[in-house]
Amino acid sequence: MKTYLVTGGLGFIGSNFIRHILDKREEITVINVDKITYAANPGNIPNGVKNYRFYKTDIADNVGLSKVFDENDVDYVINFAAESHVDRSIMTPGIFIKTNVDGTANLLELSLKHNVKRFLQISTDEVYGSLGSTGKFSETTPLAPRSPYSASKAAADMLVMSFFHTYDMPVLISRCSNNYGPYQFPEKLIPLAIINALHEKDIPLYGDGRNVRDWIYVADHVAGISLILEKGKPGETYNIGGDSELENIDIINHILDRLNGSHSLIKYVKDRPGHDRRYAMDFSKIASKMGFSPKYGIDKGIEYTVNWYLKNENWWKEILSGDYREYYKKMYEYR
Ligand code: NAD
Ligand code: TYD
Repeated sequence: MKTYLVTGGLGFIGSNFIRHILDKREEITVINVDKITYAANPGNIPNGVKNYRFYKTDIADNVGLSKVFDENDVDYVINFAAESHVDRSIMTPGIFIKTNVDGTANLLELSLKHNVKRFLQISTDEVYGSLGSTGKFSETTPLAPRSPYSASKAAADMLVMSFFHTYDMPVLISRCSNNYGPYQFPEKLIPLAIINALHEKDIPLYGDGRNVRDWIYVADHVAGISLILEKGKPGETYNIGGDSELENIDIINHILDRLNGSHSLIKYVKDRPGHDRRYAMDFSKIASKMGFSPKYGIDKGIEYTVNWYLKNENWWKEILSGDYREYYKKMYEYR
């Protein structure tokens, strides 16, 4: 029986990962450490699952996290915990440094002390910066982050690598492109567009709406993470991508078409400061070394995602009735 310590497992990708691991019913115990920020939802993990333990703990809290390590014999650490939204990082950068940098440093120190066998840092393509209309990011592209979010994630990646070089700690880094799918908090573009379309409410599109992201369905990301945990080489970084580059306007048109929504809902608004123009991933390393390829194209992925939001109104209605309203007002009212 292996023990995985998963951080941030009540958020979007972390909870998809945990459900995947527990569904497979392999010999794995999952310890989930989550601070329960606005982005977390305890209902993301079903009640009563076996081989699962939860700690409400901040990864930056040394005393709290030490207790988790003392009480469990941890084999692998998978660090999803982060402040993850670029727009919020522009409003309040400090918490991004606290969680994404200090929190990762704390987790690394304790993982080293407890001799974990693998430490996987869940990073992002955003650490590479912004592309023009051609080229792709590879693992050797220099880091050039441009938002407080991506800068904090790049700092964390550098700390992770420093533990490899200095202490020979068995670390790995995965860098994935934009995820979408079930359980994504509605501040991000795709769930925001779905939910606004369902309410016949304006869909805010930043700038000229032609920024490009490489979209990946979350199940494909989770599959890539499992491969890296199984087959990755310590000290290495692996890009993961969805092979689905689209302009934001195309994604929104696609969602509106699927919901029979009116395209007049699209509202061009003031651009995000420092808005990265284009991300595109060269993920040939994980493809050739581990046989990774994304299984969900954008059509299937959006179909499944839209259907999930249609069937799970209770999940997102609860979010819309809470603090999210204040955030939405602050972010969009005068834009
Ligand atoms: P999310 O915002 O949905 O979830 C983050 C989770 O981390 C939440 O449950 C939150 O409560 C928890 N958390 C935040 N601060 C914490 C702290 N100090 N201690 C413990 N828990 C804390 O994020 P997500 O979209 O699921 O992203 C997960 C990871 O994947 C992040 O590291 C992010 O940088 C990375 N990533 C995300 C994407 C994407 O498109 N969403 C793409 C590539 C990489
Ligand atoms: P987002 O989902 O916030 O992810 P990221 O900024 O990490 O790529 O945004 C995806 C793209 O959509 C990005 O180019 C910004 C744009 N966007 C909008 O045009 N309107 C919105 O309301 C949001 C949230 C994002």
